[in-house]
Amino acid sequence: MEQLKIDITKVSGFVSKEKVWSFKEDIQKQNEALHAKTGKGNDFLGWLNLPSSITEAHLNEIEETAANLKAKADYVVVIGIGGSYLGARAVIDALSNSFDHLQSNRKNPVILYAGQNIGEDYTYELLELLKDKSFAVVVISKSGTTTEPAIAFRLLKEMIESKYSAEEVKERIVAITDGSKGALRTLADQQGYKTFVIPDNVGGRFSVLTPVGLLPIAIAGFDIRQLVEGARQMEAQTAPAVPFEENPAAIYAATRNALHQQNKAVEILVNYQPKLHFLAEWWKQLYGESEGKENKGIFPASVDFTTDLHSMGQWIQEGVRNIFETVLSVKTSNHKMVIPTDDANLDSLNYIAGKRIDEVNKMAELGTLVAHVDGSVPNIHIQIPQLNELYLGQLLYFFEKACGISGYILGVNPFDQPGVEAYKKNMFALLEKPGFEEETKAIKKKLEE
Ligand code: PA5
Repeated sequence: MEQLKIDITKVSGFVSKEKVWSFKEDIQKQNEALHAKTGKGNDFLGWLNLPSSITEAHLNEIEETAANLKAKADYVVVIGIGGSYLGARAVIDALSNSFDHLQSNRKNPVILYAGQNIGEDYTYELLELLKDKSFAVVVISKSGTTTEPAIAFRLLKEMIESKYSAEEVKERIVAITDGSKGALRTLADQQGYKTFVIPDNVGGRFSVLTPVGLLPIAIAGFDIRQLVEGARQMEAQTAPAVPFEENPAAIYAATRNALHQQNKAVEILVNYQPKLHFLAEWWKQLYGESEGKENKGIFPASVDFTTDLHSMGQWIQEGVRNIFETVLSVKTSNHKMVIPTDDANLDSLNYIAGKRIDEVNKMAELGTLVAHVDGSVPNIHIQIPQLNELYLGQLLYFFEKACGISGYILGVNPFDQPGVEAYKKNMFALLEKPGFEEETKAIKKKLEE
């Protein structure tokens, strides 16, 4: 069976294999602590055994709900932010035809996103687009109180209620939220929306394999069973009983921590497929929110190559040497495109005529790897065989598991995000939200200083 592979040979000029392997015992200990639930944040470990514990009935319910929405709507708006949005978008973008939204003979609704920003123009343009379209809404918020999705939902709810009967509205809104608390739960229960529960013990950025990710992915027409199967394979492959050498998440966690100890402060996730842009956005949240605390953590950045080689390539090649790259490589493209011969050859491209575009892309990848390693940028190489649900499932769980282990190696609680509250408190104070009177006074004073 083909599966995700990790290759760390291109870090050996910077940290020795012995140094990486010196983490072996600690990694083993931290992996065991995760599974024994004895480490920090152990009330948020529901994601750990999620793939192997998802039931047939649960998948059926998600697929059935997706089928109902698909039958009704040409557009489905997924409302959510951060962990309540990025996982679904990462998978949907990775698997979708890049121009699917422009095809008139689509089999599945167009997935649109809202509540992931507070852009007034974005929201206006979305509502303008939807006003004469058949649409449905999946609103996702674990807390049920997050400002960005709450604003978007208020507007979309108003529009959907003005277009459809009360009965029809109930068929077109699905809420994914806490099982018992929060404003969204209260509203959904009052209005009789179909709901799915985000388990208490699964934090937002680890929730892609709950209905948070699975429902939008199923609506977009992708096989959530294969996604879960891939994750299940990786759950088995990264279990504490698996030797360090055979556990890709353990090797990744060890390598990035070894590099971090050599003053590599920034990890850049590199892809060579434009479809993986949002996978990198998901990864940045996963690692950024999990590790960046107590003045610690590797800064997670990302680039889309070869596009960004023409903008960020210079910095990576010759800027401050505090970075390393993790290259996310896809072995085989899903489609074949050969570069044609041209008799005039004015662009001098005939030397690559007859080659597949992916062959050229792979040479760009290899050439860049060698150049960046020569430029003192260590490279970790992660390869999946193909862009499909199975391998994406492997990849998602691989990154989640390595993140949990890495956070423990760093000594932080990888499952909380106390720092996210600071901006919210100030925003509420500036908006003069009831209950924030003291903060309003304090921030106004600060701004006057
Ligand atoms: O990972 C996290 O916890 C955050 O990114 C949340 O997912 C995000 O802030 C959205 O929160 P909620 O789902 O409560 O609206």
